[in-house]
Amino acid sequence: MKETDNLQKIEYENLSEDYQRLLNEAEKVMDRAYNPYSGFSVGAALLTKNGKIITGANVENAAYGSSICAERAAILRANAEGYREFCAIAVIAKGKDSDTTGITAPCGECRQVLNEFSQVSECDFDVILSTTKKDKIAIFKLSQLLSLPFGPKDLGINVKRYQR
Ligand code: THU
Repeated sequence: MKETDNLQKIEYENLSEDYQRLLNEAEKVMDRAYNPYSGFSVGAALLTKNGKIITGANVENAAYGSSICAERAAILRANAEGYREFCAIAVIAKGKDSDTTGITAPCGECRQVLNEFSQVSECDFDVILSTTKKDKIAIFKLSQLLSLPFGPKDLGINVKRYQR
């Protein structure tokens, strides 16, 4: 039993249309994962404040530490495309030879990077997490996943002017 099994779950049918679409886009991009080492596929989809969806998949590297997670891949792609303001992210994952039976939550490094753009966005993101089959779905606030964060304010920086 994983600790996430006790969470308040939401049925796919009860998600808003926007969040269903977001999760479906995350699911599609999950198959683009470049994962020769772990075989673990992750898809992430960001919802911009204007309703656009930008996706990313994990990309691994022979120097394992150089691998990048799906969530950060989506953020970098969004930034390159000119988007920095988001209100939600969906994450879905699949094991090497099996579907995930529990939800997959963003790693600590991704939470930190998401927090940066949550500050830029002036929005505490909804983080929608799902098993491969969408039979377990949970929604968190980013602030629940990363409480007491270190962020731009700690350095006296206001990142509002980076909004776009
Ligand atoms: N991974 C992600 O892309 N996102 C997560 O939330 C957890 C882990 C990736 C990194 C690596 O390619 C693989 O999953 C196994 O850790």
